[in-house]
Amino acid sequence: MSELPDSRPEAAEIQRTGILFSGIQPSGNIHIGNYCGAIRNWVRLLDDYHCIFSIVDYHAITAPYDPSIMQARIRQATLANIAAGLDPERCLIFVQSQVPEHTELTWIFNTLTPMGLLGRMTQFKEKSRRSEENINVGLYDYPVLQAADVLLYRAEAVPVGEDQVQHIEFTRDLARKFNLRFEPYFPEPQALVPSSGARILGLDGKSKMSKSLDNYIGLLEEPEAIWEKLRPAVTDEKRIRRSDPGEPGDCNIYTIHQCFSPPEVQEWVVDGCRSAGIGCIDCKRKLHEHMMNVLDPIRERAKELERKPEVVDEALARGARECRVRAAATMEDVRRITGLR
Ligand code: TYM
Repeated sequence: MSELPDSRPEAAEIQRTGILFSGIQPSGNIHIGNYCGAIRNWVRLLDDYHCIFSIVDYHAITAPYDPSIMQARIRQATLANIAAGLDPERCLIFVQSQVPEHTELTWIFNTLTPMGLLGRMTQFKEKSRRSEENINVGLYDYPVLQAADVLLYRAEAVPVGEDQVQHIEFTRDLARKFNLRFEPYFPEPQALVPSSGARILGLDGKSKMSKSLDNYIGLLEEPEAIWEKLRPAVTDEKRIRRSDPGEPGDCNIYTIHQCFSPPEVQEWVVDGCRSAGIGCIDCKRKLHEHMMNVLDPIRERAKELERKPEVVDEALARGARECRVRAAATMEDVRRITGLR
């Protein structure tokens, strides 16, 4: 795992050679956790790699869902990502199920995967605890599909938030197993994790921010709605009275400041919080102001994209077309290497 610095070198200095892959589930509500942990870095890395991003609908159906709104969720997720800066002229964006080779490679990888390893995956354990009535094989096999996503494009870099690092370690492991069992073919991809924002907690200040826990701030929510959520959000719980000093390191609001506010504001928070010079509401007001500096233009672009549905349609069509060609080439090799053809 390597850490991304917060400022990138000039694009022109970098050779744009390697392939970068990442994915996001089609949620109608992409949240600021997704943005801070992943999308923000995807945008930064656009000129450093050949970037491929997938809206992973095969992954999404491992949780209960309503088929009649799946297409709307896919469109909304694509739109939000483009609005946040994934310029479709500079990367490929596609819907996972439009490239069926993802499931074909998953099957081959299944035969290299020890069952015990999947049962020990943190996300599987958490999700199966939460959804007792629907612990399906897809949920269990989820990391294998994720490994197939990355390796189908022989990607070297995978920018993700902290919760996905274990899955990328698993992907490396699988690549190694394949290369040893058959012949050296797949690279061992690197997880790229941001130095700040890799794990944003929800408004409860306890669990990871996520759509399913309904503890999130949506990337495209209106400023007033965001303030209504931010105002009562949990801070450092040891800071009970305004006069108590707080510890920014124990406060999710400070973690979010690190993604949205400039360094001098972050310093103001640290000093003011530790000395009880500022209250939590002052700190949240400042955060809201700087969040809006970033989120206002994203929301505006999203509104513009809603008026131009062809931008999303064309991006997804080109993404699927080009990814199918790449995926078919890998599967040709894999079938030959594994003796299936
Ligand atoms: P998903 O859709 O849950 O999240 C997309 C990205 O957002 C990051 N993220 C967060 N980062 C910081 N704080 C949070 N609270 C937070 N919540 C989400 C995630 O780490 C992720 O990078 N299995 C993946 C999607 C996937 C994928 C892949 C990723 C499928 N195939 C191949 C990389 C490579 C997932 O469910 O992400």
